Order: sequence, then structure tokens, then C-alpha cells
Amino acid sequence: MQGMEHMKQKGIVVLDFGGQYNQLIARRVRECGVYSEVHPYTMGVEKLRELQPRGIIFTGGPNSVYDPASPVCSTQIFELGIPVLGICYGSQLIAHLLGGRVETAPVSEYGHTDLTVDDPEDLLFSGVAKQTVVWMSHTDYISALPEGFHSTAHTDKCPTAAMSCPERKLYAVQFHPEVLHTPEGSTMLRNFVCGVCGCETDWQMSSFVDDQIARLREKIGSGKVLCALSGGVDSSVAAVLLSRAVGKQLTCVFVDHGLLRKDEGDQVEGVFGPKGNYELNFVRINAQQRFYRKLAGITDPEQKRKVIGEEFIRIFEEESRRIGKVDYLVQGTIYPDVIESGLGKSAVIKSHHNVGGLPDVVEFREIIEPLRLLFKDEVRKVGLELGIPDALVYRQPFPGPGLGVRIVGEVTEEKVRIVQEADAIYREEIAKAGLERGLGQYFAALSNMRSVGVMGDFRTYDYAIVLRAVHTSDFMTADAAGLPWEVLSKITTRIVNEVRGVNRVLYDCTGKPPATIEYE
Ligand code: XMP
Repeated sequence: MQGMEHMKQKGIVVLDFGGQYNQLIARRVRECGVYSEVHPYTMGVEKLRELQPRGIIFTGGPNSVYDPASPVCSTQIFELGIPVLGICYGSQLIAHLLGGRVETAPVSEYGHTDLTVDDPEDLLFSGVAKQTVVWMSHTDYISALPEGFHSTAHTDKCPTAAMSCPERKLYAVQFHPEVLHTPEGSTMLRNFVCGVCGCETDWQMSSFVDDQIARLREKIGSGKVLCALSGGVDSSVAAVLLSRAVGKQLTCVFVDHGLLRKDEGDQVEGVFGPKGNYELNFVRINAQQRFYRKLAGITDPEQKRKVIGEEFIRIFEEESRRIGKVDYLVQGTIYPDVIESGLGKSAVIKSHHNVGGLPDVVEFREIIEPLRLLFKDEVRKVGLELGIPDALVYRQPFPGPGLGVRIVGEVTEEKVRIVQEADAIYREEIAKAGLERGLGQYFAALSNMRSVGVMGDFRTYDYAIVLRAVHTSDFMTADAAGLPWEVLSKITTRIVNEVRGVNRVLYDCTGKPPATIEYE
């Protein structure tokens, strides 16, 4: 169990009935300063008794409660004396299990919906405007309330958009208070957590850090731990957490594949290596030439990824043989990775290799994923808490195959140099202009196009660099960002003047879809 001591008498259990926003609910509760974790709906009443949460939240889910195959929990949960909040499917489940009726709604509601609060005295709506906006997504509705409940809010199409039975501390909302589209949703969740459950708001990220360190120490004992460090936020934070917990029992292997950004290998070594701040064994493998050799002549994007991924795994395999038997393998998996790999239904647009294949080649007892419950910005908070330098904590995402997917066509050492230098100038100027934090991702890529130019009195036939900058929140879709012309113009001048081999700079105005963020 992740945080037993934060849960007992203090925290909130989120019971997962298959909705999309389950971790988001736990995260919103943690934002209130109250510990929360998600558990499957099958968690038995016994386990809940043992955990002793201060409150339970039932999540949404895609099913209909009247379908016999739908996920249900035991009605004994309502006898525990622990307050329950049901959200969407969770609200219908409360109605269904306690004798109310749920049916297909005459009209389904989806998206922003006006809500009228009918019972302003209801604890859930304390401080919430009588007319507010909520995010709805349902085709079923509660058509008859269970005994002891009263409707506390309605919308045009949904007579029971919220209901409660304060005597038993049972609350239910048809809408999603956890999403930002419900502007007063955080207030409602806080009302449940603090007002109804009476939680103290004293949980902080530092508690997570202390708790994780203690747990990792206990679990690992005197075992040996291996971590594939990429220098990205997630693996760095996971590595530092482990280093705090077990020091030199941890070995971090950092493979420099020669496709990193300019000077990045040295920066990672500076932070984690012998001159850095942490107690751990740091192994840097300079495999640049090995990767360039393997990539020679390959132009197909998927083939490039495959080669990079496989070579990475081979190197890791060799290195782990040198280290000998390890007990634990650390992975910096964070919650969004869990969702992506969990769904796994969408078409493969690009295969992401990274360190996914490691478990097959390293002999170990167990995988440790200390960040599995956290969202990216929570991981960053943990990083700051652990004293990791800002530059690393706020690093923008960088793909595992690195510049290999930012060079169109064959990858050569010369092309890597060009894109590294151009990208360094781009990043420097974006930082100088103070635009960094406003962008989701930005980088220079090397088009495979060479064209005629003139420099001094000479004809040139050189490459075109493409500048990319996007706004995105989930990296599944993105809009091209509009950068100020003065900034673009300065970057262009610097790149063509300072980077040998480039005579044109283009700006990519395409969104995703139809383009992707990276180039290969
Ligand atoms: P695309 O190019 O698919 O990128 O729009 C979406 C996000 O994923 C990152 N990306 C990768 N990350 N291995 C990774 O670890 C990969 O092979 C890979 N390809 C794309 C990309 O940087 C963006 O953030």
C-alpha cells in the first residue's frame, strides 16, 4: 500500500469504476492537502476497514448500472460510517444500490451545462453560486431517489443533478467536479473532503517524499537497484528518490546515444556523476559512434526508432551483465504513461521504444515505479522538493530516440551537429525572450531539404532548419504557437550566421493533427 500512514483516518480512497478521470479526482483531493489514492472497485469492504480512509469517492465509468455485467461494490460500504461521494456512474450506483431508480435519460447531456443549486444549505455546495456551470457526460439519469435522499441541484434536462443524504453522509453528483470545465468543482470536492469528511489539510508533497523514501528503504533492504537514467524529468526524479533512500546501492546507467541536445550528456553527468550532488553509482556510456554506425543508410522513420531502441537495449544488456545480478529495476513511469499503455487501443502512429524493453533483458526480482501515481506537474513538485536543479525539473519533454526523430531522412554525425547547434540557439533566444514556460514543446528539426542560397558572394547549397513550437496540454493534439516576429527573425539570423551548413530557416505552422509534433 502506497501511503498507509497518510490514509488511516486522514485520506480519501477513490474507488475506480472505469472512468477517464479517476486519477484526476485523486489529484484534486491531494491539491486540497489531503492524501488520496485510487483503488479498483473490487477492493473489498475488509480492505477498506483496514485502510480506514476519512472518505470514499466512487468514480464515473462507461457502464449502465442496470446492466447486470456492470461493476458494482458491496452495499456494506454504506454501513462503514465513512462518507461517500459518487460522481457520474458513481452517483447512479449509489442510487441503484440504495433502492432508487436509474434509467436511460430522455435527453443525454454532454459538455458545459448550467446547474441550479436547489439546496444552498447542502454542505457540498457551500460557497458555490446558485447558478453555476458543470461538465456533464451522461446518457443515464437518476429517475427516482433512494429513501432518505433529496435532490440538491438540477439542470434543464436532469432533475437530480446532485442528491444527498446528510444523515448518512452520502453525496452524489451527476456531473464531473474534478475537471476544469466545472469551474466550481474544486470547491465542491474541497467541501466534501473538508466539510463532510472533516479531513485536515496537512498533506504535502514533502510527505510523499518522506513516505516514499521510508517505504523504498524498507522494501529494498540491502538489495541492489538499477536505473536507466535518460536525464528527463521522470527518470531523474525517480533516480534521486532512490538515491536518497538507498545511496550507493543504486546504479544509474546513462546511455549517451549521440542524439541528445547540445551538451546534454555533460549536463546530466554534471548533476548525477561523481562531481554532482547525489550519492549513487553513475555509469555514462558514450555510445555515440555505435549508434551513428547502426543508423547509417536508414531513412524510414519507424526503422530508425527500431534501431535506436534495439541498440539502446543491447547496450543496457551488456552493462547490466557487468553489474551482475540486480534486485530491483527502477522505472520513472508516471500516471499518464499508465493510461497510455493501459488503453493501448489506438492505432500505432509512432512506436515509442525508450526503456520499455528493459525488463526482458535485465535479470531482476521486481520493478519499482515510485512515481506511478503522479501527474507530470506533481513529479516536478517532487523534483523541486528533492532539490533537483530547476533546469532539469522544468525540462521540456524530449523523445527517447532524441534527435533521431528530428532529423528527416538519414541520420549522420554532421546532421546531428547542425540540428544541435540550431536548437541550442533557438532555446537560448526563447529563454531570453521569456517565452519558455508559455510553450508546450519547441525545438529545431533538420529538414532533409537542401536549397540554393547566397552568402557573401558565394552560392550555397545547404540545409533548411525548421523551427517548431506548439501549445499542447496532452501532447495528443497541439496547435502551432505564434511566436513574435522579432524573436523569429533574430533566431533566423543567428542560425544562418552561426551554424555551418544551414542557409534557410522555416517556421512550421502546422497543428497536430494533421502533422505530429516530432518529424519522424
Ligand atoms: P508526436 O510526434 O507523436 O509526439 O506528436 C507526441 C509527444 O511524444 C513525444 N515523442 C516521443 N517520446 N519516444 C518518446 O519518448 C518517442 O519515440 C517519441 N516520439 C514522440 C514527442 O516529443 C511529443 O512530446
